[in-house]
Amino acid sequence: MYSKKLKWQQALEILLLLHLFLETSIQGCSEKLIVVSGSKVSLRICNLPDKYKKLTWFYTDTQKIVEWESNTPEPHYFKSKFKDRVTFDHRDGTLHIYKVQKEDNSTYLLKILKEAGTEVERKIFLQVLDPVSKPVINIMKIKKVNNSCYLNLSCAAWGQSLNYTWYWDSGLSPKELQSSELVITVNPENYSKFYTCQVSNPVSNKNHTVYFTSACELAQSSGVAWITTWLVVMVCTGLGFLLT
Ligand SMILES: *[C@@H]1O[C@H](CO)[C@@H](O)[C@H](O)[C@H]1NC(C)=O
Ligand SMILES: *[C@@H]1O[C@H](CO)[C@@H](O)[C@H](O)[C@H]1NC(C)=O
Ligand SMILES: *[C@@H]1O[C@H](CO)[C@@H](O)[C@H](O)[C@H]1NC(C)=O
Ligand SMILES: *[C@@H]1O[C@H](CO)[C@@H](O)[C@H](O)[C@H]1NC(C)=O
Ligand SMILES: *[C@@H]1O[C@H](CO)[C@@H](O)[C@H](O)[C@H]1NC(C)=O
Ligand SMILES: *[C@@H]1O[C@H](CO)[C@@H](O)[C@H](O)[C@H]1NC(C)=O
Repeated sequence: MYSKKLKWQQALEILLLLHLFLETSIQGCSEKLIVVSGSKVSLRICNLPDKYKKLTWFYTDTQKIVEWESNTPEPHYFKSKFKDRVTFDHRDGTLHIYKVQKEDNSTYLLKILKEAGTEVERKIFLQVLDPVSKPVINIMKIKKVNNSCYLNLSCAAWGQSLNYTWYWDSGLSPKELQSSELVITVNPENYSKFYTCQVSNPVSNKNHTVYFTSACELAQSSGVAWITTWLVVMVCTGLGFLLT
């Protein structure tokens, strides 16, 4: 009884190992890819049949990129925007695209004509993103209220699929917030000497930091973008610090 249980356990472990092995050995194939523009990308499908007569890569339903037939040694590259930017490996059906562009963002289709004459299709979703732009922190409002300071900071950047994160130090512990806007009230005990906005998308990230010399006073070196001139004048006279 006991040994039977043990054998089951061993069998399960072996299966698990085999699964892990298979998973790593087919690594590099994918159904969805997110890449940065300008890079090289390899479209490699996960379960290519063992034998096939013809392979055809499509950019859209109708636009062919490359076709390979088992009775001709060289693949045929079609006249397309990919010409001179793609190479094809018929041994594993991989399509390599160089200097990938945002316009290359699409669903790619590989049609496989099997030995038996049946045709199967595989798809790869390719998303091409530009790196995010460098963000700029805008001071929307900065107001001294008694001993405290009210801050409304906004972070601006350009790009697709952006994610904003603020980092600052509350005196006790570093803080983090997922938003393009940071609105807080600080006092001389818990103000942060810096506020960093990090903008990221799945392929890149950039950040901007503004520095404070006290709860309500920006350091001159911040290089901060003020929203309007009157706000600068108002805040500066209000706080009594000197510009220039
Ligand atoms: C880019 O391609 C992906 C997958 O093919 C698609 O989901 C997405 O909508 C496309 N984005 C644009 C901007 O075309
Ligand atoms: C921060 O300032 C912007 C621009 O003035 C404003 O639209 C927004 O409502 C303010 N946020 C808060 C929480 O007051
Ligand atoms: C500022 O402090 C004064 C006196 O302590 C108090 O009466 C007032 O309500 C405070 N103002 C704000 C906006 O907290
Ligand atoms: C933004 O970033 C956080 C943390 O890195 C992540 O959990 C979240 O899914 C991201 N959101 C988007 C929309 O990318
Ligand atoms: C700083 O302390 C004040 C008073 O204790 C509190 O109202 C405020 O929320 C604190 N600010 C931060 C950023 O922790
Ligand atoms: C901001 O960007 C610099 C490089 O430009 C990096 O070294 C730093 O870690 C980034 N900071 C944050 C908080 O992401």
